[in-house]
Amino acid sequence: METNPEGATNPRQENDGRTWSRRGLLTSSATFLVGGGVGAAIGGFAAQPNTPGPDAPPLPWKWGEIDPLEAGRRAYRLYPDPIRGGCGSGSYLSLLSLLKERVGYPWTTLPDLMMSHAAGGYGGHGTLCGSLGGASCIINLVAFGEDHQVFRPMIDRLFYWYAKQEFPTDRFDDISEMPGQVKVKAMSPLCHTSVSKWALAAGAEISSKAKKERCAKVCGEVVYTVVQALNEYFAGRWTPPAWEPSEGITHCVECHGPDDMWHTKPGMNHQQGHMECLMCHSDHTK
Ligand code: HEC
Ligand code: HEC
Repeated sequence: METNPEGATNPRQENDGRTWSRRGLLTSSATFLVGGGVGAAIGGFAAQPNTPGPDAPPLPWKWGEIDPLEAGRRAYRLYPDPIRGGCGSGSYLSLLSLLKERVGYPWTTLPDLMMSHAAGGYGGHGTLCGSLGGASCIINLVAFGEDHQVFRPMIDRLFYWYAKQEFPTDRFDDISEMPGQVKVKAMSPLCHTSVSKWALAAGAEISSKAKKERCAKVCGEVVYTVVQALNEYFAGRWTPPAWEPSEGITHCVECHGPDDMWHTKPGMNHQQGHMECLMCHSDHTK
């Protein structure tokens, strides 16, 4: 494909189904020269005249008046959308779209489809549940502080809350075609345990409508919970939680910790994280 506008003889060129006009190419060529970047001209992303916009304002960004149930339902309904849906997009975009409506700029600068990649535990890899990933992205933007004292414990709290949940909750049963689904504890924030354990108990395949319905409800519940926490935080009623290891792993953490991200407490200091150790390790002290 011809990418150099000077060498282009045809005024219109095809690129990934988009058509470039020669004028657009020349503009992008100017951007290319000014910015010194290679991507603009080659990728064709700068086909529109590139008017410099304002830089993204520093974090944290403004939170809005958001009702947890409205946000949760929006996430639940977004989930099955073939383009804007999936768990990562459903959670992120439900919140983003509400913030665009209630607050406007700078939320209006964010792309709607930024979290599409998080579906299926990121690219189908079954790692972090995408609903947690999409919502955490928004938590980062509204609750960022240089001391990391708010967004970090809020996300940590969200993840261990999730691991303990019996999903799907019945919060969206009134708008669901499949109310009263089998409930199973997610066990970890990982898509893999959350989904696979449920599929086993429900006797459902991953491609089934029942599984998609279950994950839509998970997405809604995560968003509901995140909005509740953020509303409390912005009302000055939220206290950063301290993680408490569950009974079976308290001794693991005492030796292998510390469990604080700052590594300020004593301990062997060679494991990171708050997941349930016994999900993957046996107890070598017994
Ligand atoms: C009394 C302290 C103590 C407790 C309690 C403890 N460990 Fe250990 N653990 C050790 C020591 C010491 C080692 C060896 C470390 C080394 O060789 O670097 C070890 C090694 C390990 C290793 C490294 C791989 C292996 O198997 O040798 C894992 C994983 C581990 N422990 C997990 C756990 C888990 C999970 C628990 C709780 C169920 C736990 N430990 C409880 C002290 C402890
Ligand atoms: C999702 C699975 C998973 C969970 C949950 C998990 N681990 Fe591990 N951990 C691993 C794997 C896999 C390794 C690598 C072990 C190996 O190579 O033998 C590892 C390694 C370790 C090591 C060895 C590190 C070193 O430098 O010697 C320790 C200690 C450890 N884990 C402790 C813990 C503790 C304590 C918890 C709970 C707070 C925990 N793990 C939770 C999967 C897990």
